[in-house]
Amino acid sequence: MNICLKPVDENNFLDVFNLKLGEGQERFVSHPIRSLAQAYVYRTQCQPFAILDNGKVIGYVMVIYDYDIPEYDIWHMMIDASCQGKGYGKAAMKLVLGYIRQKPFGDSNRVALTCSKSNSNALALYTQMGFAYTGTEDEDEVELALTIR
Ligand SMILES: CC(C)(COP(=O)(O)OP(=O)(O)OC[C@H]1O[C@@H](n2cnc3c(N)ncnc32)[C@H](O)[C@@H]1OP(=O)(O)O)[C@@H](O)C(=O)NCCC(=O)NCCS
Repeated sequence: MNICLKPVDENNFLDVFNLKLGEGQERFVSHPIRSLAQAYVYRTQCQPFAILDNGKVIGYVMVIYDYDIPEYDIWHMMIDASCQGKGYGKAAMKLVLGYIRQKPFGDSNRVALTCSKSNSNALALYTQMGFAYTGTEDEDEVELALTIR
């Protein structure tokens, strides 16, 4: 595995568009095409990334800074259906946290994300990475957060 994050740009956006979720996973996460439309709206406070392994796009994730709280949020992380369950999600999340540690948008140490209560694979990944339930819930979604050091 030789994994890295690359900002979505003119060289890789078509590969990002072609990423596929597994059956039934559309309920857990927006596809990168929709996420990138949101990234345009929030373009002063976010960074969408392609996740690459050996130069091939295998996933997508967006980091967005919420100036009101303030905190870093991780949105729409996904690994292509053909590559899930092989350790890419965990490796990508470590890189995402490394990026946030550089404080690219603001000084907050808080990192938060939301996840469907029924998305047991993602919840296992996040808790394994040190995220803890905050108690905040919105319909089917729970919030988890981490303080970076
Ligand atoms: C959730 C997701 C990003 C995880 O990425 P991944 O590459 O599949 O996960 P990894 O192989 O790195 O596994 C990391 C941990 O997640 C959990 N996990 C991942 N896939 C799992 C599976 N099929 N069964 C059980 N646990 C699983 C495990 O805890 C695993 O750690 P372990 O192998 O040490 O036990 C990916 O499965 C995905 O894109 N899912 C669809 C989109 C989605 O739900 N995104 C999250 C929105 S909140």
